[in-house]
Amino acid sequence: MDSIRIKGGQALKGKIHISGAKNAALPLLAASLLTDEALTLSNVPHLADIVTMSNLLGQLGVGISLNGHAPGGHTGRVVELKAATLTDVVAPYELVRKMRASILVLGPLLARAGEAKVSLPGGCAIGTRPVDLHIAALQKLGADITLDNGYIHARAPRGLRGAEIIFPMVTVTGTENIMMAATLAAGETTIVNAAREPEVVDLAHCLVAMGARIEGIGSDRMVIAGSAKLHGAAHNVVPDRIEAGTFAMAAAITDGDLELIGAKMDHLNSVATILAAAGIDMTETADGLRARRANGALRGVDVMTEPYPGFPTDLQAQMMALMCVADGASMITETIFENRFMHVPELKRMGANITVHNASALVRGVPMLTGAPVMATDLRASVSLALAGLAARGETMLNRIYHLDRGYERLEEKLAACGAHIERVKEAA
Ligand code: UD1
Repeated sequence: MDSIRIKGGQALKGKIHISGAKNAALPLLAASLLTDEALTLSNVPHLADIVTMSNLLGQLGVGISLNGHAPGGHTGRVVELKAATLTDVVAPYELVRKMRASILVLGPLLARAGEAKVSLPGGCAIGTRPVDLHIAALQKLGADITLDNGYIHARAPRGLRGAEIIFPMVTVTGTENIMMAATLAAGETTIVNAAREPEVVDLAHCLVAMGARIEGIGSDRMVIAGSAKLHGAAHNVVPDRIEAGTFAMAAAITDGDLELIGAKMDHLNSVATILAAAGIDMTETADGLRARRANGALRGVDVMTEPYPGFPTDLQAQMMALMCVADGASMITETIFENRFMHVPELKRMGANITVHNASALVRGVPMLTGAPVMATDLRASVSLALAGLAARGETMLNRIYHLDRGYERLEEKLAACGAHIERVKEAA
């Protein structure tokens, strides 16, 4: 398995192109199942999770072609997907276990084909992460669902019918699954307590371009009027706010100055507010956002993760790395996932002073971290260790980086171009 070697201490300076959002691209790819016409997606990031989803869709009969890059530099790939006829309704364990977001084929497949058999997912080891809310909501839309041998077997031979779905907690992929299914259901579906993440909004806009009728996009109550058929469309994937937030923190932790090309302030307001309190300036530029320390010092701040528009759980680990070298203490509370502090023992091996009590971590800033061999256990934990390594004295070897490749496009290239001493070390064959 490859590793990443980092020699810390370089201030990052320059411009970084923000890729298309993984968490938007995944449901958008799955939306291709809803129509027999072509869906063309541009600004698709080149990531392991995207390959996994493409393989899964290919297995279901979706024709996929890569049409190169859109004009304008690092603007991601153009992917054309055409599900003229579906040849299978099974999402097998071998593919689903690699990526929990495979559950996103359940809603569209069921709505279009009247049947879907999707393995219960695996994915990041950040808590139990059940899919009970997806299942209950699809049952409410009239699906008959059984669990057989680790598979969710959903059937709706006479089609789905609209209903009122009240999610007891905000679920991002749950909202996306039901929104997609409802576009082909008979009658009207209301989703109450819907997720409002920019990736959910991006999917909604694409579905509308495909002919779906959706009201309340971007709010916590969406009304979807079902249609008999959707048609093809072309759609550009939104920039990755988590990647942008990660690089803003990379600028801050190294006392650098980065321009994040394509990043949108609209999607990062809660992050910018917290970073401002910690002594980091995030300002809009003509092409994106600029991030740097306001006056040299980093201050400890308290952070609590929340569904959008709150501070994202997907930036919690990176924020913790930053707080490890801030002046004073910081209390970081994780409210979305249990067991999402797996970066803590590794950060401590680099000299961080962190005490975890239930869902909160008390981080007392230290003047300097020191490089160490560390191991990544989930996607965002991995990148938080990379950030710590960029600021640390000496060498950090980041092992088991396959999670990083699931979610960050050319991470080491992008950082190296801004002055980081970082390289991928290929495992000897
Ligand atoms: C999505 C993101 C992930 C992000 C998360 C929260 C994608 C592909 N992934 O994950 O990067 O960290 O949102 O912003 O977009 N839950 C249940 N039952 C369910 C579904 C969820 O109990 O059926 C719980 C989860 O365990 C968790 C909470 O609800 O505690 C939120 O999870 P959810 O929003 O569903 O996360 P994902 O959609 O899996």
